[in-house]
Amino acid sequence: MFDAMESSSLDRWFGTERLSEAAERFTTPLYVYSAARLRDNVERFRSAFPSAETDLAFSVKACSNLSILRLLAGEGLLFDIVSAGELERLRRAGVTADRIVFAGAGKRADEIRAGLAAGIREFNVESVGEAGRLNAIAGELKTRAAVALRFNPDVDARTHTYISTGRGEDKFGVTTAEIKGLTSNWEAEFANLDLHGLHVHVGSQIREVAVWPEVVAVVEGLIDVLPSALADGLKSVNFGGGFAIDYETSEIAIDLPGVAEVLGEFAARRDVRVMIEPGRALAANAGVLLTRVQYLKERGGRQVAIVDAAMTELIRPALYGAKHRIVPVGGGASGETIPTDIVGPVCESGDFLARGVPFPKLNGGQLLAVLDAGAYGFTMSSNYNTRPRPAEVLIEEGGLRLIRRRESLDDLIGPEEL
Ligand code: LLP
Repeated sequence: MFDAMESSSLDRWFGTERLSEAAERFTTPLYVYSAARLRDNVERFRSAFPSAETDLAFSVKACSNLSILRLLAGEGLLFDIVSAGELERLRRAGVTADRIVFAGAGKRADEIRAGLAAGIREFNVESVGEAGRLNAIAGELKTRAAVALRFNPDVDARTHTYISTGRGEDKFGVTTAEIKGLTSNWEAEFANLDLHGLHVHVGSQIREVAVWPEVVAVVEGLIDVLPSALADGLKSVNFGGGFAIDYETSEIAIDLPGVAEVLGEFAARRDVRVMIEPGRALAANAGVLLTRVQYLKERGGRQVAIVDAAMTELIRPALYGAKHRIVPVGGGASGETIPTDIVGPVCESGDFLARGVPFPKLNGGQLLAVLDAGAYGFTMSSNYNTRPRPAEVLIEEGGLRLIRRRESLDDLIGPEEL
């Protein structure tokens, strides 16, 4: 379950003492992020994908804390959003609209208005209906919208079915047939839309470089059937996110230079820019969820540790069967291991953080770190069981900075006192 390597990597990026201090000062459960590791992840992408030809964006849904967004904005990233809420976060983080692309299969009219009013870089249009709605609202506002068509390439990303998004049956994007219909009379039907790109995102946690040439082949096939005026006007293709990490080692688990080569060759062949918009690979390993053991039980030869974090803080194990490593912070658990369930206080048997993992005998009060929780951790948290969501802390230059206070009961209940 855990070994010296895990502890030393935790120490390197977070500092074991800092983590203990954070738990003392801000109490658990608590999300803690490492600014150094976020920057290191950006650097890995930058060195694989030269910025001269690739725009690097961050998928805000993975980790949307204002301070994290500011940090990544400072590194020069663009941002991928899926709601007016994420747009507002970026506005408050001081990110200018020309760095924001807006995807999402169900944009409401008010969200389209907000994006147009802000002047965002690009709408990733996902349906025929959305193209019509965007065109009409742009006309009302006497403005023009920059558009990339998100299309569904019918490629299987060979990942967990819930996070696979580019198969024919998935709800995302427009099909090649729909694109043909949309573009056959584009200038007349969508006079307020400037089509300048294509967008494709086939899923998350993709490990195989071989998925990318498949996607590129479908993109090229599509470009070849576009009316030539539109094909000539294409400036960029956004290939989405999806770069896997290995939850057993915390490392990026896809050959980034391999993907960069495939996309770079495509960009050169077609004379377009390429964009990518990772979420997980930039943020996951830069965050841990700290939790303390509250009670211990024994159930059928297993040690059951009831901790103060739950599916409300990190739903990935319950939802996807995701396996996050959990390690003791600052010693206190060593010796022979026994099968252990690490579970939360929420009233569901699906409320577990780990099941059947080998762990030494734990003590009440033991501090644990759930690793690789920086992406789709806090952003998927909930208030189920009327549990206030935890605080978030950023470790920067060795210091601890509170970047979101713990929710109060009034934050939760106040809106009902009408
Ligand atoms: N672009 C688009 C259009 C997306 O829908 C997503 C993620 C990304 C980029 C970023 O993908 P990434 O690089 O993080 O794989 N909650 C799930 C993951 C859902 C991903 C949704 N879309 C999880 O916890 O595994």
